[in-house]
Amino acid sequence: MQNNKKRIFSCKNLEMNFGGLYALVDINIDIFENEAVGLIGPNGSGKTTFFNVITGIYKATGGNLYFMDEGLLGKETYDIAKRGISRTYQSSRLCLKLTILDNILIGMYNNQTAGYFDALFNRKKLIAEVKTFKERAIELLNVFNPDLIDKLFNPVGELPQIDRRRVEICRAMAGEPKMILLDEPSAGMTPDETTEMMDDIKKVRSSMKNVSIIIVEHNMNVISSVSERVIAINFGKEIARGTYEEVSNHPDVREAYLGKEV
Ligand SMILES: Nc1ncnc2c1ncn2[C@@H]1O[C@H](COP(=O)(O)OP(=O)(O)O)[C@@H](O)[C@H]1O
Ligand SMILES: [Mg+2]
Repeated sequence: MQNNKKRIFSCKNLEMNFGGLYALVDINIDIFENEAVGLIGPNGSGKTTFFNVITGIYKATGGNLYFMDEGLLGKETYDIAKRGISRTYQSSRLCLKLTILDNILIGMYNNQTAGYFDALFNRKKLIAEVKTFKERAIELLNVFNPDLIDKLFNPVGELPQIDRRRVEICRAMAGEPKMILLDEPSAGMTPDETTEMMDDIKKVRSSMKNVSIIIVEHNMNVISSVSERVIAINFGKEIARGTYEEVSNHPDVREAYLGKEV
């Protein structure tokens, strides 16, 4: 099934060594167009580090990374974002004092063509661009929670957790990425909010046909409902991959989560 799909991302023998602590060891992962892959592993197993290496926050100490057949290693974070990889963070990185609109506009920064010169001498171009961005922000919010459109100019800090996460997802989608990395999107949510969030991720997929998703989650319901295949890591090494059933029943995965006795 995967073979006739276009591969958009791959990492080969990826390694991240923090002064002797190997957070990632020999990781080999391909991501295909329009698929959602779950990445699981106990606390401290290297999941966030993997996202940080993909997005250029950390420079891998070994191996290689490719996106759309081009090498990512050594590229700056803004450059990687511009190529079409966006993310959300385990702990929210929204600017709580800024409005919903401003937070989403941050995600469109790379799509902006009007520059400083236009801000001074070509106001029309700048205003037209901001207007287009605003329309896009409204379009995105409409997918997740149309009530948020009325709150476009309200500070994000006033919103409940689920809506904040939605604004973050809108910001990640705003730049029309090809791959989105979601780091524990259900963190801090109630079970009801988590259920809504799973629907949100399905909406992301139906509203952006070719987008690929890597989702890190502790909540196994989220993983099983959202992802088509799952990769498990422990101590920075892959221990299993396959369908959710295969991976969740894998003895090494059970041991990693539950200890040797089980
Ligand atoms: N900047 C860093 N410097 C040193 N060690 C780090 C750094 N970032 C992460 N680590 C270590 O790498 C390991 C994996 O961490 P992390 O990727 O955050 O795990 P996870 O997201 O799976 O819980 C941990 O042992 C952590 O302490
Ligand atoms: Mg993490």
